[in-house]
Amino acid sequence: MQKDWTLSPSLLSCDFCNLQQELQSLEQAGIKWIHWDVMDGSFVPNITLGPPIISKSRQKTNLFFDVHLMIEKPERYIQQFARAGADLISIHAESTPHLESALSQIEKQNLKPAIALNPHTPLCQIEYLIPQTYMVLIMSVNPGFGGQEFIPFSMDKIRDLSRMIRDKNSQTLIQVDGGVDLENAAELVQDGADVLVSGSAFFKHPPYEQRLQDFKARVSKHV
Ligand code: DX5
Ligand code: ZN
Repeated sequence: MQKDWTLSPSLLSCDFCNLQQELQSLEQAGIKWIHWDVMDGSFVPNITLGPPIISKSRQKTNLFFDVHLMIEKPERYIQQFARAGADLISIHAESTPHLESALSQIEKQNLKPAIALNPHTPLCQIEYLIPQTYMVLIMSVNPGFGGQEFIPFSMDKIRDLSRMIRDKNSQTLIQVDGGVDLENAAELVQDGADVLVSGSAFFKHPPYEQRLQDFKARVSKHV
Protein backbone atom coordinates (compact mmCIF):
# COMPACT_ATOMS: atom_id res chain seq x y z
CA MET A 1 0.00 0.00 0.00
CA GLN A 2 1.24 3.51 -0.88
CA LYS A 3 2.16 5.69 2.06
CA ASP A 4 0.06 8.84 2.50
CA TRP A 5 2.01 12.08 2.35
CA THR A 6 1.27 15.73 1.65
CA LEU A 7 3.08 18.49 -0.21
CA SER A 8 2.92 21.86 1.54
CA PRO A 9 4.30 24.54 -0.83
CA SER A 10 6.13 27.33 0.99
CA LEU A 11 4.67 30.68 -0.07
CA LEU A 12 8.03 32.31 0.61
CA SER A 13 8.84 31.52 -3.03
CA CYS A 14 5.49 32.54 -4.52
CA ASP A 15 4.66 35.74 -6.42
CA PHE A 16 3.47 37.93 -3.53
CA CYS A 17 2.26 40.64 -5.93
CA ASN A 18 -0.36 38.16 -7.10
CA LEU A 19 -1.07 36.31 -3.87
CA GLN A 20 -4.77 35.79 -4.52
CA GLN A 21 -4.03 34.34 -7.95
CA GLU A 22 -1.34 32.10 -6.50
CA LEU A 23 -3.73 30.74 -3.87
CA GLN A 24 -6.33 29.99 -6.53
CA SER A 25 -3.81 28.29 -8.80
CA LEU A 26 -2.59 26.13 -5.93
CA GLU A 27 -6.11 25.07 -5.01
CA GLN A 28 -6.94 24.28 -8.63
CA ALA A 29 -3.74 22.26 -8.95
CA GLY A 30 -4.94 19.93 -6.18
CA ILE A 31 -2.75 21.28 -3.37
CA LYS A 32 -4.29 20.81 0.10
CA TRP A 33 -1.83 22.48 2.49
CA ILE A 34 0.14 25.71 2.18
CA HIS A 35 3.06 26.73 4.33
CA TRP A 36 3.35 30.30 5.69
CA ASP A 37 6.83 31.32 6.86
CA VAL A 38 6.55 33.99 9.54
CA MET A 39 9.90 35.61 10.42
CA ASP A 40 10.58 38.40 12.91
CA GLY A 41 14.13 39.52 12.08
CA SER A 42 15.26 38.40 15.54
CA PHE A 43 14.85 34.63 15.82
CA VAL A 44 15.98 34.50 12.19
CA PRO A 45 17.83 37.11 10.09
CA ASN A 46 14.86 37.89 7.84
CA ILE A 47 11.42 39.51 8.10
CA THR A 48 8.40 38.26 6.18
CA LEU A 49 4.70 38.55 7.02
CA GLY A 50 2.21 38.39 9.86
CA PRO A 51 -1.47 37.97 10.82
CA PRO A 52 -2.95 40.70 8.52
CA ILE A 53 -1.81 38.98 5.32
CA ILE A 54 -2.86 35.55 6.59
CA SER A 55 -6.30 36.78 7.61
CA LYS A 56 -6.92 38.51 4.24
CA SER A 57 -5.87 35.33 2.47
CA ARG A 58 -8.16 33.25 4.70
CA GLN A 59 -11.13 34.97 3.05
CA LYS A 60 -9.97 33.78 -0.38
CA THR A 61 -9.20 30.09 0.06
CA ASN A 62 -10.06 26.92 1.94
CA LEU A 63 -6.51 25.56 1.80
CA PHE A 64 -5.14 24.17 5.08
CA PHE A 65 -2.99 26.94 6.59
CA ASP A 66 0.25 25.46 7.94
CA VAL A 67 1.85 28.39 9.81
CA HIS A 68 5.55 28.15 10.66
CA LEU A 69 6.46 30.73 13.29
CA MET A 70 10.13 31.69 13.28
CA ILE A 71 9.70 34.34 15.99
CA GLU A 72 10.95 34.85 19.55
CA LYS A 73 8.48 33.94 22.31
CA PRO A 74 5.72 32.79 19.93
CA GLU A 75 3.29 32.38 22.86
CA ARG A 76 2.70 36.15 22.60
CA TYR A 77 1.07 35.78 19.18
CA ILE A 78 -0.80 32.46 19.17
CA GLN A 79 -4.21 34.05 19.62
CA GLN A 80 -3.59 36.50 16.80
CA PHE A 81 -2.56 33.78 14.37
CA ALA A 82 -5.54 31.67 15.44
CA ARG A 83 -7.89 34.59 14.72
CA ALA A 84 -6.16 35.20 11.39
CA GLY A 85 -7.15 31.70 10.28
CA ALA A 86 -4.23 29.33 10.93
CA ASP A 87 -5.15 25.63 10.98
CA LEU A 88 -1.82 24.48 12.38
CA ILE A 89 0.90 26.43 14.18
CA SER A 90 4.52 25.30 14.42
CA ILE A 91 6.64 26.91 17.10
CA HIS A 92 10.38 26.48 17.45
CA ALA A 93 11.66 24.60 20.50
CA GLU A 94 14.54 27.14 20.55
CA SER A 95 12.23 30.16 20.63
CA THR A 96 10.63 29.74 24.06
CA PRO A 97 11.56 28.31 27.47
CA HIS A 98 7.89 27.30 27.91
CA LEU A 99 7.28 24.96 25.02
CA GLU A 100 4.71 22.76 26.76
CA SER A 101 2.56 25.67 27.75
CA ALA A 102 2.81 27.26 24.27
CA LEU A 103 1.68 23.97 22.69
CA SER A 104 -1.27 23.78 25.08
CA GLN A 105 -2.22 27.33 24.11
CA ILE A 106 -2.35 26.30 20.44
CA GLU A 107 -4.51 23.31 21.30
CA LYS A 108 -6.86 25.51 23.34
CA GLN A 109 -7.46 27.55 20.19
CA ASN A 110 -8.60 24.29 18.52
CA LEU A 111 -5.61 24.31 16.19
CA LYS A 112 -3.08 21.58 15.48
CA PRO A 113 0.02 22.09 17.69
CA ALA A 114 3.41 21.49 16.08
CA ILE A 115 7.05 21.81 17.17
CA ALA A 116 9.83 22.93 14.82
CA LEU A 117 13.49 22.05 15.39
CA ASN A 118 16.56 23.80 14.00
CA PRO A 119 19.04 21.45 12.31
CA HIS A 120 21.32 21.05 15.35
CA THR A 121 18.63 20.72 18.02
CA PRO A 122 18.55 17.16 19.42
CA LEU A 123 15.32 15.16 19.43
CA CYS A 124 15.62 14.40 23.16
CA GLN A 125 14.48 17.98 23.85
CA ILE A 126 10.97 17.13 22.72
CA GLU A 127 10.74 13.45 23.63
CA TYR A 128 8.15 13.90 26.37
CA LEU A 129 6.04 16.26 24.27
CA ILE A 130 5.54 13.84 21.36
CA PRO A 131 2.14 12.50 22.54
CA GLN A 132 0.61 15.99 22.64
CA THR A 133 2.20 17.17 19.38
CA TYR A 134 0.32 16.85 16.09
CA MET A 135 3.45 17.32 13.98
CA VAL A 136 7.20 17.80 14.34
CA LEU A 137 8.86 20.02 11.74
CA ILE A 138 12.45 19.04 11.04
CA MET A 139 14.37 22.00 9.61
CA SER A 140 16.74 20.64 6.99
CA VAL A 141 18.34 24.08 6.40
CA ASN A 142 19.05 26.91 8.82
CA PRO A 143 15.78 28.86 8.96
CA GLY A 144 15.54 32.30 7.38
CA PHE A 145 15.68 31.90 3.62
CA GLY A 146 14.38 29.80 0.77
CA GLY A 147 16.60 28.18 -1.85
CA GLN A 148 19.25 26.71 0.47
CA GLU A 149 20.83 23.27 0.23
CA PHE A 150 19.46 20.32 2.17
CA ILE A 151 21.68 19.44 5.18
CA PRO A 152 22.45 15.70 4.77
CA PHE A 153 22.33 14.69 8.48
CA SER A 154 18.65 15.66 8.48
CA MET A 155 17.97 12.23 6.93
CA ASP A 156 19.32 10.52 10.09
CA LYS A 157 17.23 12.83 12.23
CA ILE A 158 14.05 11.93 10.35
CA ARG A 159 14.74 8.22 10.76
CA ASP A 160 15.46 8.66 14.50
CA LEU A 161 12.32 10.74 14.98
CA SER A 162 10.23 8.19 13.13
CA ARG A 163 11.51 5.50 15.52
CA MET A 164 10.85 7.70 18.56
CA ILE A 165 7.26 8.29 17.45
CA ARG A 166 6.72 4.55 16.84
CA ASP A 167 8.18 3.67 20.24
CA LYS A 168 5.70 6.00 21.87
CA ASN A 169 2.78 4.54 19.88
CA SER A 170 2.01 8.06 18.73
CA GLN A 171 0.43 9.30 15.48
CA THR A 172 2.57 12.45 15.36
CA LEU A 173 3.36 13.54 11.80
CA ILE A 174 6.84 14.43 10.54
CA GLN A 175 7.31 17.49 8.33
CA VAL A 176 10.56 18.30 6.54
CA ASP A 177 11.34 21.90 5.58
CA GLY A 178 14.28 23.23 3.56
CA GLY A 179 16.01 22.08 0.39
CA VAL A 180 13.31 19.56 -0.48
CA ASP A 181 13.23 18.79 -4.21
CA LEU A 182 12.42 16.05 -6.72
CA GLU A 183 15.73 14.35 -5.99
CA ASN A 184 15.29 13.77 -2.26
CA ALA A 185 11.47 13.62 -1.93
CA ALA A 186 11.16 9.84 -2.27
CA GLU A 187 13.89 9.09 0.27
CA LEU A 188 12.38 11.55 2.75
CA VAL A 189 8.95 9.92 2.57
CA GLN A 190 10.50 6.47 2.72
CA ASP A 191 12.40 7.42 5.87
CA GLY A 192 9.31 8.73 7.64
CA ALA A 193 8.29 12.18 6.36
CA ASP A 194 4.52 12.74 6.12
CA VAL A 195 4.56 16.36 4.96
CA LEU A 196 7.14 17.83 2.57
CA VAL A 197 7.52 21.60 2.45
CA SER A 198 8.85 22.88 -0.85
CA GLY A 199 9.45 26.50 -1.80
CA SER A 200 11.86 27.14 -4.67
CA ALA A 201 11.76 23.60 -6.10
CA PHE A 202 7.99 23.95 -6.42
CA PHE A 203 7.21 27.57 -7.38
CA LYS A 204 10.02 27.90 -9.94
CA HIS A 205 8.43 25.18 -12.04
CA PRO A 206 4.88 25.98 -13.08
CA PRO A 207 2.31 24.81 -13.98
CA TYR A 208 1.65 23.71 -10.40
CA GLU A 209 -0.56 20.78 -11.28
CA GLN A 210 2.27 19.27 -13.32
CA ARG A 211 4.82 19.99 -10.60
CA LEU A 212 2.64 18.26 -8.00
CA GLN A 213 2.34 15.27 -10.34
CA ASP A 214 6.14 15.23 -10.75
CA PHE A 215 6.61 15.05 -6.97
CA LYS A 216 3.96 12.34 -6.67
CA ALA A 217 5.51 10.29 -9.48
CA ARG A 218 8.97 10.41 -7.85
CA VAL A 219 7.64 9.37 -4.47
CA SER A 220 5.34 6.59 -5.68
CA LYS A 221 8.16 5.02 -7.70
CA HIS A 222 10.08 4.32 -4.51
CA VAL A 223 7.64 4.11 -1.66
C1 DX5 B 1 13.12 28.57 5.61
C2 DX5 B 1 11.65 28.27 5.52
C3 DX5 B 1 11.27 27.32 4.44
C4 DX5 B 1 11.66 27.77 3.07
C5 DX5 B 1 11.88 26.53 2.23
O1 DX5 B 1 13.36 29.24 6.80
O2 DX5 B 1 11.18 27.72 6.74
O3 DX5 B 1 9.87 27.01 4.51
O4 DX5 B 1 10.72 28.57 2.43
O5 DX5 B 1 12.34 26.92 0.98
P1 DX5 B 1 13.08 25.92 0.02
O6 DX5 B 1 12.14 24.79 -0.29
O7 DX5 B 1 13.39 26.77 -1.17
O8 DX5 B 1 14.31 25.43 0.74
ZN1 ZN C 1 9.08 26.96 6.79
